[in-house]
Amino acid sequence: MKRITSLLVIAPTVAALWGAVGCGPAPQPETDVPTPTSLKDAADLRFLVGAAVSDAVPSGQARADSLLVIDQFDTITDENVLKWEVVHPEPGTYDFEPGDRYVAFGEANGMFIVGHTLVWHSQTPRWVFQNEAGEPKTRDELLALMEEHISTVVGHFKGRVHGWDVVNEALAEDGSLRDSPWRRIIGDDFIEKAFEIANAADPDAELYYNDYSLANAPKAEGAARLVLGLIESGHRVDGIGEQGHYKMDWPAPARLDSAIITLASVGRPVMITELDIDLLPARSRDRGADVGLRGDMSEGLDPYAAGLPDSMQQALSDRYVELFRVFMDRSDMVDRVTFWGITDSTSWLNYWPIFGRTSYPLLFGRGGEPKKAYHDLMDVMAR
Ligand code: XIL
Repeated sequence: MKRITSLLVIAPTVAALWGAVGCGPAPQPETDVPTPTSLKDAADLRFLVGAAVSDAVPSGQARADSLLVIDQFDTITDENVLKWEVVHPEPGTYDFEPGDRYVAFGEANGMFIVGHTLVWHSQTPRWVFQNEAGEPKTRDELLALMEEHISTVVGHFKGRVHGWDVVNEALAEDGSLRDSPWRRIIGDDFIEKAFEIANAADPDAELYYNDYSLANAPKAEGAARLVLGLIESGHRVDGIGEQGHYKMDWPAPARLDSAIITLASVGRPVMITELDIDLLPARSRDRGADVGLRGDMSEGLDPYAAGLPDSMQQALSDRYVELFRVFMDRSDMVDRVTFWGITDSTSWLNYWPIFGRTSYPLLFGRGGEPKKAYHDLMDVMAR
């Protein structure tokens, strides 16, 4: 993949854009250094910088967000519209309308377009794994359905979606294969089958393995083993995505650095695919990003509902800077850094794992204003 030519000279500044979308006075940059003016230009030849977008962006409902995406990022990932439950809600029924909008938006803006995701245990309807009597499907039945799904979806976007998260979250925390309906019904080879089918459906699209908590050594080693095994048995895998749903104290920069080296040891690029930093109090010591996790709100778990104090704004910025220093140091291995969302107001962390909290995980604030972390990252990357 790598590298879309720098658009340094033509991008409007965030501040100008901010004014242009009618959001009041522009926040003042801390220095008057004029360039670069966007994340994608600041990251320039190191790696692509992206954002996950909901349907509100391509549909035009979130116009200010769309402008931010166009201005700041050179790659997009769909937050939901290409997941099984959206694109293939009923047997034999595909809904490509939001997916088509998503891809058209990326094309209109010259972006590297990622498709997320083909084979996953979450956001996948129950009927996928069960027959009409509610009994588990057989291996052959599920394989046939997987083949139909991947070839229909990848085939529909052939030549237009540039990279697919073919398999999402197949590993357990210890690096072994996780117990999922895909594995229970098909067996361990469901992963290689998925890559084979995706490769046949679009030989030119990049194909990725994607998972969370790959910053932890056992899981990083498991992912490297898995992908190396696929490559050695003749399967095409073009990159490993570490989701990057991080906390303020995890992973430590040195840990992340080692994990990137482990993942890159298979000879494929590493991508940080779903970056955000959760600074809200954790419900438990769980550091994963299992969308099936749910917690109840209780006292103390939503401390910044009225706003984020400057000290926390600074701490978030310091944390982003230390993570980006790792990505920059390893930019020979890291091809892409994609944030999971655009502004704090629509981040999934407002509703996961606890519904109804006020979260601050991204670089743009609740009204779309660039945060301290944005300005500091721009400075660090410009150096
Ligand atoms: C999340 C979306 O952001 C939410 O809108 C949705 O309700 C649940 O899924 N890992 C993934 C992503 O691979 O697909 C998840 O996205 C976040 C965790």
